[in-house]
Amino acid sequence: MEFTQLTLQELLDLQKDLQSQFDVIKQANLKLDLTRGKPSAEQLSLSNSLDSILDAYFVLQDGTDVRNYGGILGIMEARILGSKMLGTRPDEVLAGGNSSLALMYQLINFAHLHGLQGPGTSWQAEAQQQQGQVKFLCPVPGYDRHFTICEFFGIEMINIAFNDDGPDMDKIEALVATDPLIKGIWCVPKYSNPTGHTYSDDTVRRMAALGNSAGANFRVMWDNAYVVHHLTDNPPRLLNIMEECRSKGTEDNLIITGSTSKITFAGGGISFLCSSRANIDALETHLTASVIGQDKVNQLRHVLFLKDQQHLLDHMQKHKQILRPKFDHVVKVLDAELAGKGMGSWTDPKGGYFISFDSLPGLAKKIIALAAELGVKLTPAGATFPYRQDVEDTNIRLAPTFPPIDDLDQAMKVFVVSVQLASVQQRIQQL
Ligand SMILES: Cc1ncc(COP(=O)(O)O)c(C=O)c1O
Repeated sequence: MEFTQLTLQELLDLQKDLQSQFDVIKQANLKLDLTRGKPSAEQLSLSNSLDSILDAYFVLQDGTDVRNYGGILGIMEARILGSKMLGTRPDEVLAGGNSSLALMYQLINFAHLHGLQGPGTSWQAEAQQQQGQVKFLCPVPGYDRHFTICEFFGIEMINIAFNDDGPDMDKIEALVATDPLIKGIWCVPKYSNPTGHTYSDDTVRRMAALGNSAGANFRVMWDNAYVVHHLTDNPPRLLNIMEECRSKGTEDNLIITGSTSKITFAGGGISFLCSSRANIDALETHLTASVIGQDKVNQLRHVLFLKDQQHLLDHMQKHKQILRPKFDHVVKVLDAELAGKGMGSWTDPKGGYFISFDSLPGLAKKIIALAAELGVKLTPAGATFPYRQDVEDTNIRLAPTFPPIDDLDQAMKVFVVSVQLASVQQRIQQL
């Protein structure tokens, strides 16, 4: 029954009961963390053989000694791996170091301050000429580190709401067509962080077409961090955006990124940035000022370990076997304790690293504070929004991947008690 149908006396009794559950849990002095989407130690161990895989094998077929300097675009074997994973041609891939976020940062830095297509094409210069400000569209809730990059460069962020099939394309198209200083959009097209959305075919096609109506040097930042991170045997399909862009002549407007952070080692994987040849060439020249070559040794380790797309997908099955029970458990507790009560809604994602919970308006901060009082750390309220401002104060990102399932169980018990207590307290105050 919806809790709003309870009488004041019933609510007061319920509050008392929840408060005593809260007090009992508090005695346990828990110390649990559901904040960041990190792989668990068990997942990391799946890739331990990376450590010894080279066995003094350092020379590629073309004679390149991977121990030496050189190769800003990475080794071709790794670029092929990235191209299969992200759906582009190998020559459209830069294979980098352990962080795709670093590549996104470098790309934005380059486009904003210097210009991807030569002098005079920088976003900053154009904004100065027009006495305006560079802006980015940000589907929300989204990935906090994307927003941090924009904030760092003083790029104004505009929130875009999600529909079932991805971000609100009508709004995006209207904004992009009328404001040439909108220079990009952040997208996590498969299993979005944190909502779990996979963009529909129509959404992908419309994203690919934006380059034709946007102002100069517009970029779709297609962060495909969870492209192979399925939690089901029938993953939803994501249309190949590079092919869509090719057919519309907008490859220059597309930047795809991804990495093996949650495939092998989060701190020791390899990353990829894919785009048109023109963008890759420009980025290579730009990076020459800062780096002599990539960590080709680690790239070779990954090539030998992951081998090809089929082996990579087989390896991801092992991750799924570890992760599926954790996600199922979180959803089971939410369903058992909150379903039908009208105290919030949550996702049951088909892949990725997060479950997104929306509380009643005005309660996310309160719920997070209550959980913290019981020793459970949750991602700070607002973290999933630009400027850390969730105007409705509803979104809470749950990250079930890292803790062992027993810890997760305890943390979820804390969470559902906190949600119920906050909701009941708010309701009593409103009556
Ligand atoms: C959407 C998204 N992109 C990128 C990253 C970070 O990727 P990397 O480890 O390759 O820097 C994360 C990590 O949580 C993420 O959720």
